[in-house]
Amino acid sequence: MEPSGKSKCCSLRPLTFFLVAFLLVFGMGVLSPRIPMLRTRPEEEGIEADRKPPGMQVVKLPRMLYPQPAVLTPSRKDVLVLTPWLAPIVWEGTFNIDILNEQFRLQNVTVGLTVFAIKKYVVFLKLFLETAEQHFMVGHRVNYYVFTDRPADVPRVALGEGRRLVLLQVPGAARWQDVSMRRMQMISDFCERRFLREVDFLMCVDVDMRFRDHVGVEILSPLFGTLHPGFYGATRQAFTYERRPQSQAYIPPDQGDFYYLGGFFGGSVSEVHRLTAACHQAMMADRANGIEAVWHDESHLNRYLLDHKPTKVLSPEYLWDEQLLGWPAVMRKLRFVAVPKNHQQIRN
Ligand code: UDP
Ligand code: GAL
Ligand code: MN
Repeated sequence: MEPSGKSKCCSLRPLTFFLVAFLLVFGMGVLSPRIPMLRTRPEEEGIEADRKPPGMQVVKLPRMLYPQPAVLTPSRKDVLVLTPWLAPIVWEGTFNIDILNEQFRLQNVTVGLTVFAIKKYVVFLKLFLETAEQHFMVGHRVNYYVFTDRPADVPRVALGEGRRLVLLQVPGAARWQDVSMRRMQMISDFCERRFLREVDFLMCVDVDMRFRDHVGVEILSPLFGTLHPGFYGATRQAFTYERRPQSQAYIPPDQGDFYYLGGFFGGSVSEVHRLTAACHQAMMADRANGIEAVWHDESHLNRYLLDHKPTKVLSPEYLWDEQLLGWPAVMRKLRFVAVPKNHQQIRN
């Protein structure tokens, strides 16, 4: 039987309502990612909005000419290039950047770089950003995320094509230790709020630094840490891990792979989310127990990376302090180096 005109119209109404509601709820999140989506459970939001496993697919490369990898000739004889769990340790001489650039460009990867410039540390931003434009992920899409309590003091730096800067205003903290530690909480928070939707990989770095040589897609991997320049030759007993069992960051003397830096870690957004959330939880537990780990967030990062083995490890080429350590021959390149500072003066 033909339904009457009236009933046809009425039967369409609920459909129209759902369509409009659907567009409102999902369209907003997709079309204007800056507008926060209506709150769902964080894990739901994460799964729903997460991008495809980035930079990790097998892609078909164009014809390329490059030196043959020689099975009987190690790329480096003077350093460890592979961890016992088969994660590459990234040193100059171990990778062909042309191959890697092709692979990551074909996937149109976007890299997020988080950096905190709280209180007086805004002075480091200019050199940091200017040198990042010269050396960091050149040829790829980059979002700088600058967390600051002084947005007016953020310098205007000309950015290359496909690169943008996002200012994230956050509160400062009285103690420098708290500024450093709260980075974990804020990064974890913003992973849910926007990073999962906006970038494929996240790198989290100190701001009192300048890039002085290539830092590119060779570092990208689901989870990576960087060898601390002060400890790459040291035994695990000499690492400055947290040694008090009362702390969540505790590592006993008979454990430990490497001593990683607090000032350069990263990975896929979902792994960085897991890492930062876990470190934040551990720091809150410590606080409730009246203990603060010896090297703050760095101690917790070391505990996390002992339990969750990184899929790549960056050599100290990726964070060096020339003033303190000179330039040993084993470092063929100094890529990202500390800018000398007066701790007392800048932190207060
Ligand atoms: N930081 C900041 N304001 C401060 C103290 C620290 O923005 O007042 C941030 C900044 O990104 C800095 C990082 O926290 O690079 C770690 O602190 P710092 O570099 O002083 O530690 P160090 O490298 O000297 O161990
Ligand atoms: C220092 C560094 C600190 C911390 C410490 C670990 O060189 O400035 O931030 O990493 O080493 O022992
Ligand atoms: Mn620093």
